Amino acid sequence: MERKSFSCRDTASCLALLAVALCLGAATVARGQLTDDFYDDCCPQAENIVRARVSAAMKAEPRMGASLLRLHFHDCFVNGCDGSILLDGNNTEKLAGPNLNSARGFDVVDAIKADLEKACPGVVSCADILAIAAKYGVLLSGGPDYDVLLGRRDGLVANQSGANSNLPSPFDPISTITKKFSDVGLNTTDVVVLSGGHTIGRARCVLFSGRLANFSATSSVDPTLNASLASSLQALCRGGDGNQTAALDDGSADAFDNHYYQNLLGQRGLLSSDQGLFSSTDGSAATTRALVQAYSASSERFFCDFGRSMLKMGNILPLTGSAGQIRSNCRAIN
Ligand code: HEM
Ligand SMILES: *[C@@H]1O[C@H](CO)[C@@H](O)[C@H](O)[C@H]1NC(C)=O
Ligand SMILES: *[C@@H]1O[C@H](CO)[C@@H](O)[C@H](O)[C@H]1NC(C)=O
Ligand SMILES: *[C@@H]1O[C@H](CO)[C@@H](O)[C@H](O)[C@H]1NC(C)=O
Ligand SMILES: *[C@@H]1O[C@H](CO)[C@@H](O)[C@H](O)[C@H]1NC(C)=O
Ligand SMILES: *[C@@H]1O[C@H](CO)[C@@H](O)[C@H](O)[C@H]1NC(C)=O
Ligand SMILES: *[C@@H]1O[C@H](CO)[C@@H](O)[C@H](O)[C@H]1NC(C)=O
Repeated sequence: MERKSFSCRDTASCLALLAVALCLGAATVARGQLTDDFYDDCCPQAENIVRARVSAAMKAEPRMGASLLRLHFHDCFVNGCDGSILLDGNNTEKLAGPNLNSARGFDVVDAIKADLEKACPGVVSCADILAIAAKYGVLLSGGPDYDVLLGRRDGLVANQSGANSNLPSPFDPISTITKKFSDVGLNTTDVVVLSGGHTIGRARCVLFSGRLANFSATSSVDPTLNASLASSLQALCRGGDGNQTAALDDGSADAFDNHYYQNLLGQRGLLSSDQGLFSSTDGSAATTRALVQAYSASSERFFCDFGRSMLKMGNILPLTGSAGQIRSNCRAIN
């Protein structure tokens, strides 16, 4: 196991050096120490193994692509992309507010890890599994293909307070969300384009019913919520326990496309934090509004920028070299 993991690292270093020698150095440096061919020598089938499991899970439930995308995001924003969200225990990220009764897909990750441990024991990190699963969650929903960068190692601690403080809330104003992104090195373009991840997936009533009449203290509908959407959401959430779910991208729930941004132009964003990208007046409103308009008009631009921002997000403080470990079970440190 040890030797295999060493050979991976050595191979990657060699390739990185080679790339510099071939004057591809700028790209290599900008991407930190992650590479797109990290497992080529020691587990060339890694991406296909992940893809097969993601594909099967999405055939059973198309939403699973969205759930896996969100796991990678929630992993990366807390202590970097280190698989920390996957750890089980009492004081874990899984039990933090933004993840409790919300984050899903852990069983799919376990199945992927089991397959990988059979094929190449001790080689592929749980943090990289999340990055690859997110890529295929997007691609198999009809989204862009991008070369996912690999070579992350797994962290040794979960950080519940970090998850509570770093992850954006749907109740945050856009200026707070932008600040939480900039704290991890992501800018306003990244905020708008990565929010486009909400072109797939679902959210629970409890996270948007405050925008509906009869659910909020004022009993009036959020003025930036389309009236016809508001009444269908009221019907969905009325008398419910807050666990009912609605599509984040109403009218195109499971397709990765730029319909999410078109919805924002018609005040059909589900979360306050979605609609705020177009309708809010705080912080960088002019910038976010212009980007929403650009992405609503061009799926090519959305797809291209989304891939670029996913690489930036996937590159938040990765553990590389001999830091951390390669977990054999994603739920526990070795
Ligand atoms: C910009 C700030 C963001 C906020 C405030 C936010 C908030 C939320 C909330 C409240 C939910 C629903 C959770 C539930 O119902 O329990 C959700 C779901 C989701 N989020 Fe975000 N999110 C943000 C950014 C992102 C980013 C950057 C991505 C990925 C690139 C992402 C991907 C998703 C996906 C795919 C789902 C659906 C998951 C599923 O159906 O299982 N979100 N988000
Ligand atoms: C979690 O907390 C319970 C109750 O305090 C305790 O019995 C258990 O040993 C703890 N588990 C871990 C993994 O720390
Ligand atoms: C947890 O996350 C917070 C916020 O990012 C950070 O300040 C803190 O150092 C982290 N703690 C651990 C133990 O990693
Ligand atoms: C955000 O960063 C990207 C490069 O990663 C850059 O192209 C873009 O213009 C930046 N956006 C803003 C609003 O500064
Ligand atoms: C909201 O409350 C008012 C007054 O209590 C009631 O007449 C109306 O039917 C309610 N609307 C919904 C959608 O529940
Ligand atoms: C919502 O679902 C969670 C998880 O299944 C459950 O613990 C919680 O009690 C439910 N909420 C309500 C109000 O029933
Ligand atoms: C509300 O949504 C409907 C249906 O998509 C659309 O025709 C209408 O223009 C929207 N209203 C506003 C204020 O954008």
